[in-house]
Amino acid sequence: MKPIIDLVAGARPNFMKLAPVLRAVLKRNELEPRIVHTGQHYDHGMNDVFFEELGIPEPHVHLDVGSGSHGAQTARILERYESHVMKNPPAASVVFGDVNSTVACALAAVKLGVPIVHVEAGLRSFDRTMPEEINRLLTDAMAALLLVSEPSGLVNLHREGVEEGKVKFVGNVMIDTLVHELPFAEKSSILDRLNLAGREYALMTMHRPSNVDDPQILKGLLEVTAELAKKIPVVFPAHPRTRKAMEQSGLWNRFFGKSDLLFVEPVPYRDNLCLIGKARLVLTDSGGMQEETTFLKVPCLTLRVNTERPVTVWKGTSRLVGNEPDQIRNAFEDVLAGRWPAGEDIELWDGRASDRVAKELAVWMNI
Ligand code: UD1
Repeated sequence: MKPIIDLVAGARPNFMKLAPVLRAVLKRNELEPRIVHTGQHYDHGMNDVFFEELGIPEPHVHLDVGSGSHGAQTARILERYESHVMKNPPAASVVFGDVNSTVACALAAVKLGVPIVHVEAGLRSFDRTMPEEINRLLTDAMAALLLVSEPSGLVNLHREGVEEGKVKFVGNVMIDTLVHELPFAEKSSILDRLNLAGREYALMTMHRPSNVDDPQILKGLLEVTAELAKKIPVVFPAHPRTRKAMEQSGLWNRFFGKSDLLFVEPVPYRDNLCLIGKARLVLTDSGGMQEETTFLKVPCLTLRVNTERPVTVWKGTSRLVGNEPDQIRNAFEDVLAGRWPAGEDIELWDGRASDRVAKELAVWMNI
């Protein structure tokens, strides 16, 4: 019998990371992967569409935790995953990224003696007010095998004193999905549907608490975006959290349908990839989109004051602009005037990171 490994996913950015790793593990045919979905994201547009498009099979286990405060959500995942692991212990539990599902499942498993593999280990924003930073630190502290996506991860883990033998630089599995899906994204009809085919436009997304939870900050960001949208239209797929914050503060009625700032529902993976690839620039606070724009060499205004993905700034096409309207305006102008780095290729962001993940798993498990 092949050893069972759990692949744990819960929120949208996890699905793009799980899909290629699952394929690579199945290809080697040495392990029995079991998909565990915590249910942290559950809307059709945040969840099912990604499973369908990325060809991820129905999860073996669904924990159905839904939304809640950080404590409540993390606790529900912890309790339900623990109960699952007690009944069906895997040989290892593979967790991805930095969402609440990542840390909660790692904690449940490690306490039951199940070793943790962390894909996308070592990233640090050095900003402990971010829930994701706490999730990263704790998950790495529990992991037995730490698989790193960019060079800064190696430096961070070394500084934190993590044993060298536990750390492997495998590259970025999210880029594997990008490379795999690009031919399909090129056939997407989203630009026709939004009446943007052949036109210059910008793409904007934001959902981080630091940008959307304070109505004054959110208002400032929307005002500057609406102003810039007069130069070139801005497409804005609104995350449920952002939409809710806008509705609660009266900003939805003020901005929706009133300018070339075009609000749309969260978009499926291939449509989003098409939107990124053809955009003149992207404005975002998403970690994944910082990486995707760097890979595709599209200018990215990162709406944060720090990033756990510094290679996108050092070598890629991203600039940190925070949420100050003036900085955003200036950077927008710089892109339109061509004052922007072309960007370099990033080491091991080559579409084959998942094969290296599967190989490292096999070596680590002595298969
Ligand atoms: C989570 C991750 C974040 C990631 C983001 C991608 C954590 C701490 N944060 O943030 O790192 O970048 O996912 O989307 O894990 N909601 C819905 N439907 C859904 C999911 C959420 O309506 O399917 C709403 C709920 O009101 C919920 C809120 O969005 O309370 C926040 O959802 P949650 O999963 O807690 O965090 P995200 O902001 O999505």
